[in-house]
Amino acid sequence: MVTQKDALTNGIMSCWKSPSNIALVKYWGKKGNQIPANASLSITLSEAYTITRMKASKAEAGKGPGVIFRFEGELNEAFGARIESFLKSVIPQLTFLTDVNLEIESGNNFPHSAGIASSASAMSALALCLCSIENSFKEEAINQDAFLRKVSYISRIGSGSACRSVYGGISIWGKHPSVDGSNDEYAVPLPFELHPLFTEIHDTILIVDPGQKKVSSSVGHNLMKGHAYAEARFNQANTNLTAILVALKQGDWDNFSLITENEALSLHAMMMTSRPGYLLMHPNSLEIIDKVAGFRKQTGAAVCFTLDAGPNIHLLYPANEVEKVKPLIEELKQYCYNGAAIEDKMGSGPLKLNCK
Ligand code: PMV
Repeated sequence: MVTQKDALTNGIMSCWKSPSNIALVKYWGKKGNQIPANASLSITLSEAYTITRMKASKAEAGKGPGVIFRFEGELNEAFGARIESFLKSVIPQLTFLTDVNLEIESGNNFPHSAGIASSASAMSALALCLCSIENSFKEEAINQDAFLRKVSYISRIGSGSACRSVYGGISIWGKHPSVDGSNDEYAVPLPFELHPLFTEIHDTILIVDPGQKKVSSSVGHNLMKGHAYAEARFNQANTNLTAILVALKQGDWDNFSLITENEALSLHAMMMTSRPGYLLMHPNSLEIIDKVAGFRKQTGAAVCFTLDAGPNIHLLYPANEVEKVKPLIEELKQYCYNGAAIEDKMGSGPLKLNCK
């Protein structure tokens, strides 16, 4: 048997590519240690991803984990310190960490300043590397389902929404009566086959403002504590989740669209009605929302929008509407920062890479 000490003598490598995701039913508000106030559901993307390369080597016993972190080729001490404190918080789940030093290199394929949340792809890529390294110390191979559940759990500690990036297609995070096996501590994949209408959902991300957001998501989640509409919001999300599952199964675009937009606007309504209240939408976000509704009325196209905690708009449509939606996208680019838009779609989840 190869002991942990032997294995670490030459260092153990792990490399993963992990995607971002966009929530349709939003997680907004949490309790305890990253436990969501309501269940959420997201689409795993394919074109916005992080690649992380990790090398574990032997540290003085009990003195780990030391961390050297490079982001896009540059040593980044600020990120490194954040990662180190995340790693300390997951020592109870990944006990080998106290005996290793980690060299981590990470990079995104989307521009750092595109206004796309990178925490989901970054934290899931990190968790995948950590759990793969842990596995190389195990005598018996862990099964794939158990591996992904653990990765999702560890990702969640780093950033709640990251736990949903572990699966391709659609993921659900948070205990919910309509989803057997759903859990507050890790995400699960959609428990049934998607209707063919939804098997290739396109997402054109319209970059209204690539800057850093004025109020972070952690501040936003905290402002849900004692929020006047908190209970109503958590119930609304849980009801919307039940309804969107039916739409996804039956191929009901109209209801899918109604629920998705209701969730996006409710998320931003929570921000506006927090104390203190704040706005993350930009005047151009409102122009786009208005134009999407107008285009849909005029053409009957199956297209809808959602937003993350920021001003950028995700335009969602099925594969068979790509041609019909093209003129709308061209028109909307005038409201984007330097006309920037990223063509993305539903993806198949993380990929293990050969480390070079
Ligand atoms: O994972 P966090 O803590 O960055 O929060 C994400 C919150 C939203 O993106 C607004 C919604 C969601 O469910 O992803």
